[in-house]
Amino acid sequence: MSGQEKNPLYHVLKSQQFSRELLDELYEITNKIRRLNKSKEGLDYLRRMLSHKRAMLYFVQPSTRTFLSFLNACQILGIQTSEIRDTTTSSEVKGESIYDTIRTFCSYVDVVIMRHPQAGFTEEIAHYLDQTPRPVPIINGGSGPDQHPTQALLDIYTLRESFKELGGIEDKTIALVGDLKRGRTVRSLVYLLKHFENVRLIFVAPKQFQMGEDIKAFCIRENMPFTESADLESIVPESDAIYMTRIQDEYDANGESKIIDYTAFHFKHDFLKILKPGGVLMHPFPRRLEIDISVDSDPRAMYWRQERNGMWTRVAILVKIFQIAEKILSL
Ligand code: NCD
Repeated sequence: MSGQEKNPLYHVLKSQQFSRELLDELYEITNKIRRLNKSKEGLDYLRRMLSHKRAMLYFVQPSTRTFLSFLNACQILGIQTSEIRDTTTSSEVKGESIYDTIRTFCSYVDVVIMRHPQAGFTEEIAHYLDQTPRPVPIINGGSGPDQHPTQALLDIYTLRESFKELGGIEDKTIALVGDLKRGRTVRSLVYLLKHFENVRLIFVAPKQFQMGEDIKAFCIRENMPFTESADLESIVPESDAIYMTRIQDEYDANGESKIIDYTAFHFKHDFLKILKPGGVLMHPFPRRLEIDISVDSDPRAMYWRQERNGMWTRVAILVKIFQIAEKILSL
């Protein structure tokens, strides 16, 4: 075992591991990073912080934003990177087990950031590595239809920034829309929203893809009121934030997505008229037709900022894992 017992953030595996205290600290670090980004001196300083560290990006499911924002987050801190994005280019094609492949990364690098199609696998690999003589922190960049904790962290950051002048995330009504059953972003986000008082959730989805029973049971346990709906337009006026998602048809077993009229879960330009003046519209991307492009110029469309917040949030996560938060915050 390495020094992970002393480290409040070592592996990043699932949203449930985050306390409110840690969320607050990440928020503060992210804001500090954004301020340092405004000057060459600040950026030069950041680039020297972790120039002695190396990261492996192992992304064997498609990714644009998570991959690139982690890559750029590493570059901001001076971390050197290597990557595998396709198992056909690794020795897994020669019959090597994924355990041996990932243990190999640990021989070379100081952190592994990974995206994998199998739910729960990132956790399993982290526990396996912890039994080896040279474990390194593992960051979950998306584990099948299950969890995407770093996306949830950047979503919380975006919500906090959006509601800064409106009393914070507390007391807000947040609608999660789309394929909630298989959407890892919304699942991970619900786990984090429990840290904010009086949040009310609306799960808007086609019946077949409503939020999983495990998440609903979690909401009941945590006293987070929720309602379910299949009518997007009717819930727009009462929502403070609307979080749109695409249909996750890569997880179809029998083409079940094809029979759904997903246009009922598209945010149409006309909905802007009934969206609250201080409301926010989010999307983890990639977008298909869930939000009309003509909506992008509305100041309540937050998704492009949300995307950029992903990079800052991931810098903050690395800062915390490598225990340089105090140094950065004291600048
Ligand atoms: C999401 C993902 O991969 O789960 N994208 C992302 O990381 N920003 C959402 C999706 O693929 O629909």
